[in-house]
Amino acid sequence: MVIDLDGPPALVNLYYVSSLVDHIAKRHDFGWVDSYTAGKILADDVRFLAPTRSIPPARLPRTCRPPLSHTPPQSYLFRHIAPFDWHVRGARMAPIPRLAWDDPAALELMQRRQPVVLTGTRLAGCAQQKWDLDYLRAHVDPAAMFSVYSSPNGQFMYSNVNKNEPGFAFTPTVYHEELRFTTFVERLAQAEKAAESPRVYLQQPLYQGIGDRITDDFKTVPWEWVNAVQLALGFGPLTTNLLLIGQPGTVTPCHYDEQHNLLAVCRGEKKCTLFSPDQFECLYPYPVGHPADRQSQVNFDEPDDRRFPRFAEARGEVCTVAAGDVLYIPPCWWHMVENVAQDGLNTAITFWFKCGPGDAPAKKDRGSGVLVSVRRNLEKMAAQELGPRAAIQFWKATMAANGQELEESSFRDYHVALVERVQLLLPKPEDAAVFLEGLVAGRFHPSLCEKVSTTSQ
Ligand code: OGA
Ligand code: ZN
Repeated sequence: MVIDLDGPPALVNLYYVSSLVDHIAKRHDFGWVDSYTAGKILADDVRFLAPTRSIPPARLPRTCRPPLSHTPPQSYLFRHIAPFDWHVRGARMAPIPRLAWDDPAALELMQRRQPVVLTGTRLAGCAQQKWDLDYLRAHVDPAAMFSVYSSPNGQFMYSNVNKNEPGFAFTPTVYHEELRFTTFVERLAQAEKAAESPRVYLQQPLYQGIGDRITDDFKTVPWEWVNAVQLALGFGPLTTNLLLIGQPGTVTPCHYDEQHNLLAVCRGEKKCTLFSPDQFECLYPYPVGHPADRQSQVNFDEPDDRRFPRFAEARGEVCTVAAGDVLYIPPCWWHMVENVAQDGLNTAITFWFKCGPGDAPAKKDRGSGVLVSVRRNLEKMAAQELGPRAAIQFWKATMAANGQELEESSFRDYHVALVERVQLLLPKPEDAAVFLEGLVAGRFHPSLCEKVSTTSQ
């Protein structure tokens, strides 16, 4: 099949999908093939279509080493659970399988929405080969603005202060700016020189305005393979390619995204700790209306056992994703990402896809992200029905009641109505009250909700 790669990557995507379906129809001698059948057949075609160009090993930039004293401590989990300890300690932290991109077992794991490290995909080969700081500085559009975050302690928790309808008191520790690339490079140099300077992390969606040369490089991504995977696994459309350039020692704390992610590491190395969506009750996400929605409230370096008692029960999976590897993170899987390479920068590109036809839930699959979506929707529904502020007070009262009857009568009535609705959703209706308890436990602590009152609704 000959595919002509013109047009920006985000636009060629749709074209590929249709040309792939054609290709499969021909390859399998069908006159016509619907996308569902194409998805099934494509498990084989993914291998057939993979690129074969070889790519020389990455040249790691030697600049921007942080002073050793500034490297943040290793996270709680890694301090306490050394890799060689995994088997001794049983199932607490398991390794994520690491498989060649064309190993059928890898595709099967992804089909089951399980994480896997794929080796040898060449997914971000362009960035691996070329995109060091000097190259990017020389070839990005000098007028283009880049999204850069600064953090005094190297922890880069994502938040959105514009999203705070209930009025939570929240001051982000991460500062966001739009900078020219040259200014970002200057900030990196400052951070390298002075331990007290904030760490910086570039997190910029790739789009055509970044520069023609960069766009041309990005067209060399093996889009046939990307689209074959997308179709084979029933992902929805590709939404974003985020370019991540982070300093050694920086950490993205534990959170979940609602999309599929093929996280392609181009330079450096990332240590990733994942937790299945069924670990929800051990990881205490912020409320849905909070600016830090989807982030865990637990500080992994100093977990507060009294406030988050079930964190100690969390069962996770770990892997190291090296340059050239791709980590598949399924939707609603928690992940903490540590940039561990000590030598040079850590560069990666995300390939985020919406959920699609392959995400219809297997019945009673508690490991899937579906129950996370159900919980999110219940929080959104209460915000709509009670108002955002009263809904937070309702959840706080539900948490305080700890399975007993709620004191305030209007909240009590709403709780009864909510239990009845949840009963419709669960295979065992008698589990509904416990499900609601698990939804709120530890998440609506009075200190988090203190600025949220119902008076100025
Ligand atoms: C992600 C993500 C953070 C990082 O790819 O979804 O959270 O630091 N990445 O790489
Ligand atoms: Zn993420």
